[in-house]
Amino acid sequence: MNILAIESSCDETACAIVQDGTKELASVVSSSSDLHQRTGGVVPEIAARKQVEYIVPVISECLRVAGSPQIDAIAATVGPGLIGSLLVGVEAAKTLALAWGLPLIPVNHLVGHIYAVYIGGKIPQLPAVVLIVSGGHTDLVLMKDHGKLEYLGGTVDDAAGEAFDKVARLLGLAKYFGGVEVSKLAATCENNTISGQLPRPMLADKSYDFSFSGLKTAVRKLFETGRASTAEIASEFENAVCDVLVAKTIRAAKEFSAKSILLGGGVAANKQLRSRLGHETASLEIPLFIPEVKYCGDTAVYIASAAFFNNKPQELAQIRANPALGIMDIYP
Ligand code: KG4
Ligand code: ZN
Repeated sequence: MNILAIESSCDETACAIVQDGTKELASVVSSSSDLHQRTGGVVPEIAARKQVEYIVPVISECLRVAGSPQIDAIAATVGPGLIGSLLVGVEAAKTLALAWGLPLIPVNHLVGHIYAVYIGGKIPQLPAVVLIVSGGHTDLVLMKDHGKLEYLGGTVDDAAGEAFDKVARLLGLAKYFGGVEVSKLAATCENNTISGQLPRPMLADKSYDFSFSGLKTAVRKLFETGRASTAEIASEFENAVCDVLVAKTIRAAKEFSAKSILLGGGVAANKQLRSRLGHETASLEIPLFIPEVKYCGDTAVYIASAAFFNNKPQELAQIRANPALGIMDIYP
C-alpha cells in the first residue's frame, strides 16, 4: 500500500510517498527556517505564506522522484502546530483525495514522530516506552499497540527542545531552533568546572513528568555570574537535560516491562541523548529504536508510516486542522 503524506505543521513543507509504512519511495522537504532565523522566532504569518508557496512544487517533485507510482491513500498532519501552516497541508491533502477518489487519513504530528523508527523495516516489539522530545512537546507514553497509547507523563512547562532553543539564544549561538548549536558547543568542553551545579528538575519526583523552565532560569543566572565559559554552561545544561530524560525513560521501561524503547522528535538528533540511552538500554538488554537523524526533524515520511499503522480514514468534510492536539489524540 502506497501512502502519499503531507506535513505542514510549522515551517517545513513536506511530502513523502511510503510503501507499507516502512519503505520510503520519495521524500521532499522545503523549509522557511532561514527566514525565522532572521526574526529570532517563527512568525506564523510568514510560515503560512511560505507553505502556500511551497506546497504544490513539493508535492509534484515528490511524485516525480517516486516515478509517479500508484497511490492508495493520502495522509496529512492535522495538528498540533500553527493553524495557518496546518490549513495549507490539510486542504491540499483533501483536494488530492477528492480529485483522485482516495481515502484521507488524518495524522497527529506527535504520533507521527513515534513512527520514524519504523522507516527501514525494523519493527519494535510492544509494549514500548516511547519518549517524544520536540520543539513544542516532551511526552513519555507506553505504546501497547498501534492506536493504544497510555500517557505516562510530559513536561509541565517548557519542552526539552524549547529549553535548548532558549539556552542557544542566551549563549548567543542561534536565534531560532539552536539545539544542535548548544550540543556542538557542549562537545568542545573537555574539563567542566561547573559539573553538577545546574538542577536536574523533577529527577527525584515519582511521576513521569518533566520541567525545564527552572533549568533555563538557572542557566541564565549562572551565565550572568560570569563564573563559567559558554562551553561549560552548554555542556552542563545538556548533561542536566539528558540526566532527567534518560532516568525517567529507563525507570518507565523497567516499571512497565517494556520490550522496546523508542525515541523520536527533533531532540532525538541529540548525540548525547542517543548515546546515553544506547548505553543504558544495552545493560538492561531492552532493544532501543532511534530514528536516523534525517527522520528526527519534521518530514512527511513518518506521517505516512503512522497513517499506515493507524489506518482510519475519515469523511473529508469531518477532517479539520487542529493546532491544539496532544499526543493522546491518536485518531484526530
Ligand atoms: O520535532 P521538531 O523538528 O519540531 C517540532 O515538531 O517541534 O523539533 C525541533 C526541536 C528544536 O527545539 C531544535 O532545537 C531541537 O529539536 N533539536 C535539537 C537537536 N537538533 C534539533 N536539540 C538538541 N540537540 C540537537 N542535536
Ligand atoms: Zn516535530
